[in-house]
Amino acid sequence: MKITILNGSPRKENTLAMAEAFADAAKANGHEVEIIQVGKMKIAGCLACEYCHGKGEGQCIQKDDMEKVLPAYKDSDMVVFATPIYYFNMTAQMTAAIQRVYCIGKPAKATKAALLLSSGSPGVYDAAIACYKTMIGFMGIEDAGIITAAGDENKSEAKLAEIAELAKSL
Ligand SMILES: Cc1cc2nc3c(=O)[nH]c(=O)nc-3n(C[C@H](O)[C@H](O)[C@H](O)COP(=O)(O)O)c2cc1C
Repeated sequence: MKITILNGSPRKENTLAMAEAFADAAKANGHEVEIIQVGKMKIAGCLACEYCHGKGEGQCIQKDDMEKVLPAYKDSDMVVFATPIYYFNMTAQMTAAIQRVYCIGKPAKATKAALLLSSGSPGVYDAAIACYKTMIGFMGIEDAGIITAAGDENKSEAKLAEIAELAKSL
C-alpha cells in the first residue's frame, strides 16, 4: 500500500516519534510510506468560496502548502493522522489540512486510516477521536487503529512497539 502520514505537530518530537515508528514498521512490511510535516506548513482555512466546485473543477483557489497534502488524499491507499492534542483537540494545522480536502470531496483510493495522538495528560482525546471517526466515516474509509500516548508514554519503548504492531498488522 501507499501510506501517507500527516504529522500535525510543528515540532519533531513526540508525534514524529509515533509517526516514524509506524513508518519504519510499515516499510519493513513492504509498504511505501511518506511522512508530511503538516504542522510546519502554511495551510489556510477553507474560504467556502466554492471555486473548487465550480470554475475550479476540483482545484482550490488558495495556493499554499495544501498543494503538497492533497496528493496524499488523492493517491494514497491509507492516510495516517498523527497529531498532538492542543486544547483537547487536533492542532489547528491538522484541522486545516482535514477541512481543505473539501475541494476533492472524498479521497478516491484510500480505504484505510489510522490515528496517532500525543498529549501531556491522559484522557484528553474525545474530541480528536470523534472528529477522526466521523470524518473517515463520511469519506467511506475504514479505521485500522487508534493509538494514544500521554506524558511518559511518549517515545517509550512500549508505546513505539504498540505502534509498530499496528503497522505490521496492515
Ligand atoms: C498549545 C498547546 C496546547 C496543548 N494542549 C494540551 C491539552 O489540551 N491536553 C494535553 O494533555 N496536552 C496538551 N498539550 C501538550 C502536547 O499535546 C504534548 O506536549 C505533545 O506531546 C506534544 O507533541 P509534539 O512533541 O509532537 O509536539 C498542549 C501543548 C501545546 C503547545
